[in-house]
Amino acid sequence: MVREWDPRTASSAEIASLVDTLNAVLAADLPQDPPWRESSLREYLAEVMPGERRISWVAKAEPTADGSEAPILGHVHVLLLGDIGVLEVLVHPSVRRTGLGRELVLTAARRVYQEGFQSIGVEVVGDTPAIAFYESLGFSREYVETRSVLDLSGVDRAELAEMATGVAAGYHLEFCPGGPPDELIEAYARAKAEVRDVEDGELRPSSYDPQRLRDSLDCLRRRGMKPYIVLALHEQTGEVAGLTEVVVPAQHPTRADQYDTIVVQDHRGYGIDRAIKARMLMELRSAEPQLAEVQTWNAQTNEAMLKVNAELGYRPDREWCEYGIDVAELVHRLDAGR
Ligand SMILES: CC(C)(COP(=O)(O)OP(=O)(O)OC[C@H]1O[C@@H](n2cnc3c(N)ncnc32)[C@H](O)[C@@H]1OP(=O)(O)O)[C@@H](O)C(=O)NCCC(=O)NCCS
Repeated sequence: MVREWDPRTASSAEIASLVDTLNAVLAADLPQDPPWRESSLREYLAEVMPGERRISWVAKAEPTADGSEAPILGHVHVLLLGDIGVLEVLVHPSVRRTGLGRELVLTAARRVYQEGFQSIGVEVVGDTPAIAFYESLGFSREYVETRSVLDLSGVDRAELAEMATGVAAGYHLEFCPGGPPDELIEAYARAKAEVRDVEDGELRPSSYDPQRLRDSLDCLRRRGMKPYIVLALHEQTGEVAGLTEVVVPAQHPTRADQYDTIVVQDHRGYGIDRAIKARMLMELRSAEPQLAEVQTWNAQTNEAMLKVNAELGYRPDREWCEYGIDVAELVHRLDAGR
């Protein structure tokens, strides 16, 4: 039974049940990933950037004879932004291959179509059943990145300290827990606007103007995700020459997510990438003592960044693929198959 679902008003039992299903999915598909916690999960699912909307549905088993709440066995949400709907679907491993995944995608796709959006995108993890699933629905692969994971216990502190100071004269590094200080927001946004050499996939929003950047940081914080930034400042001009962003999510605080790393074109070749990332890892060890790993996503063509990440100790883990499809085509295809 699939029904629309609002995480804001969901019962605590439903939130707990969704975490159980998510963790069963992770155990089946990504057993090395840390399980998720309930902390701020409601906010994680409910909060969006201004101008965006997220619509969710859940699938529950039939009500139990003793009247207790039936568990959530499937979940889908779609984030509507620009002209695209970004989909996320989960089906509990105990009920897979019964058509529930297809039904959840059809439910969300119909709404995306009715709302007038053009296409649907989804991030799909390599080497999991989701690849065959989306390909069977007609989605095509548009982009592939590699996820790499760094195990902090294997990182040599002395080496890190050396890398962090290995930046050319004329720059200094600044650690900014919580995000860039307000007086640097404009310079920060300029650095992001100038360079698109980002580590992230296209489905993750990047913010290039100051207001959008503030909104994006507010949204992150509301979702229970703590941003940390290291800046390389060019002393002569005060400009932001480089930046790296890591987010520690309340939902899995032992594994942080690397977001953008940018070195502005004129400031390349001075050791900034390596130094800002090394400084970040040093700072995170004291700021987030529970942190055990950091994960990052890179385009497979981004050789310079891959090299620095390998030096820091990142190990390639999975392919992370973006798939897409035209909504009208998907709805037609799924309706025809019913
Ligand atoms: C992908 C997923 C949603 C599929 O759910 P499902 O309910 O099993 O899918 P369906 O039963 O609707 O399958 C539809 C079609 O997809 C294809 N498919 C699904 N799973 C498949 C598998 N393991 N192998 C091959 N084909 C598969 C088949 O063509 C299937 O049709 P069929 O059963 O008639 O042959 C589910 O495996 C899942 O939740 N995966 C985790 C997704 C995720 O986001 N993970 C993120 C953290 S890892």
